[in-house]
Amino acid sequence: MSATFNRREFLAAAATTGVGLSLSGAAEQGANNKLVVAVMGTGGRGTALAKGFANQPNVEVAYCCDVDQARMGKAAEEVSKLNKGSNPKTVGDFRRILDDKTVDVLVVATCNHWHAPAAILACAAGKHVYVEKPCSHTAREGELLIEAARKHKKQVQMGNQRRSYGFVAEAMQKLKEGVIGRAYFAQSWYTNNRPTIGRGKEGPIPEGLDYELWQGPAPRRAFRTNYLHYNWHWFWNWGNGELGNNGIHTIDLCRWGLGVDYPIHVSSSGGRYRFDDDQETPDTQIVSFAFDGKKSITWEGFSCNRPPDKNYFVMFHGENGTLGLADNGYTVFDLKGKELNKTPGSGNDGQHLGNFLDACRGKVKLNSDIEEAHKSTLLCHVGNIAQRTGRSLKCDPKNGHILDDKQAMSQWDREYEKGWEPKV
Ligand SMILES: NC(=O)c1ccc[n+]([C@@H]2O[C@H](COP(=O)([O-])OP(=O)(O)OC[C@H]3O[C@@H](n4cnc5c(N)ncnc54)[C@H](O)[C@@H]3O)[C@@H](O)[C@H]2O)c1
Repeated sequence: MSATFNRREFLAAAATTGVGLSLSGAAEQGANNKLVVAVMGTGGRGTALAKGFANQPNVEVAYCCDVDQARMGKAAEEVSKLNKGSNPKTVGDFRRILDDKTVDVLVVATCNHWHAPAAILACAAGKHVYVEKPCSHTAREGELLIEAARKHKKQVQMGNQRRSYGFVAEAMQKLKEGVIGRAYFAQSWYTNNRPTIGRGKEGPIPEGLDYELWQGPAPRRAFRTNYLHYNWHWFWNWGNGELGNNGIHTIDLCRWGLGVDYPIHVSSSGGRYRFDDDQETPDTQIVSFAFDGKKSITWEGFSCNRPPDKNYFVMFHGENGTLGLADNGYTVFDLKGKELNKTPGSGNDGQHLGNFLDACRGKVKLNSDIEEAHKSTLLCHVGNIAQRTGRSLKCDPKNGHILDDKQAMSQWDREYEKGWEPKV
């Protein structure tokens, strides 16, 4: 950590990002609290994060890294305008970033199959890690990532940014205090009108794309025209379907609100109902998780059909009423459905990034430590295992491991391309 803190820059950045740091707190950090950040994966999300980090006080984004040259160049150009006078370097191989001792933080905003393997290597190289959701591609990777964070004493936070929104924390506190009595059932969903991904063709690898490093830890597949960018979400070799893509956000909130950890029972139904194309993961899915203490969570995925009546994305049901949570606030209803209280709210990534950076500086605790992120991500993985085996699964409430079904438990882990197996 090095360089200077500039009061004017902080005020400007705080105004644009709404960071939750107090000025006196930030000013006290002084010159030696600057953090140098590198961003791996500069698609839509990585570019937004790179700009978000550049906007934070006392942060320099030193690298934009992507295996797609055009993408990293464009991201670096956008970040330069916000980066307090310095231009980020571009680099295709993130291992060069791990070698650079001046880098404090690696942001992993790649495809899911890279999240945990890259984050584990980064912890071993002495970097703190901001890893996008889901924090792992398999349940085993999540366990290894927690081990790596603990072994190397690094801060690792997932991109479940709603954990840092003030109004969401307030709603969770109200639930805890019994605003709807004992909350025992949380319903959640995700809706979209995604189009078909069609039928891809094997074809030449586009110029400027290092497809070998894009695949990295995943067993090799010949390049096809409808894998990337973004559509990898819908292939099990790289993605985790809509459940791991967007289910993770709301399931994390359900778990927080009900105060539950690992499930005792998981089932899933649905499939690829809407289009006949190459996509492997379901576009329609209903997953249900039961927990000790008579509590349940459900998640419904409507990837290709946005129903008109889903105003909230989580509904918590309790003995005395319901609390509905949305990105613009929360509402409490009584048992007859009468609105008792409507609280508007809003949040932004800056609050989560600010919390992460202050945790790296040793000033605060993470709003969502990697162990909590793992518990939520694990629900998505076990939900997908239930879907793919077509069986209801019994789980160990101590760690989520699948009981009495060796074949299902064999999907806890995955095969790796030789040489890329994550190790702690
Ligand atoms: N927290 C949120 O709200 C939020 C929102 C959107 C996306 N995400 C997550 O962010 C991640 C990225 O999403 P996206 O929409 O930008 O996807 P994307 O496919 O458009 O971008 C991923 C980028 O990573 C790059 N990449 C792959 N392997 C790499 C490697 N070894 N080194 C460097 N770069 C590599 C790809 O070339 C691509 O540019 C996903 O995991 C997604 O789940 C989170």
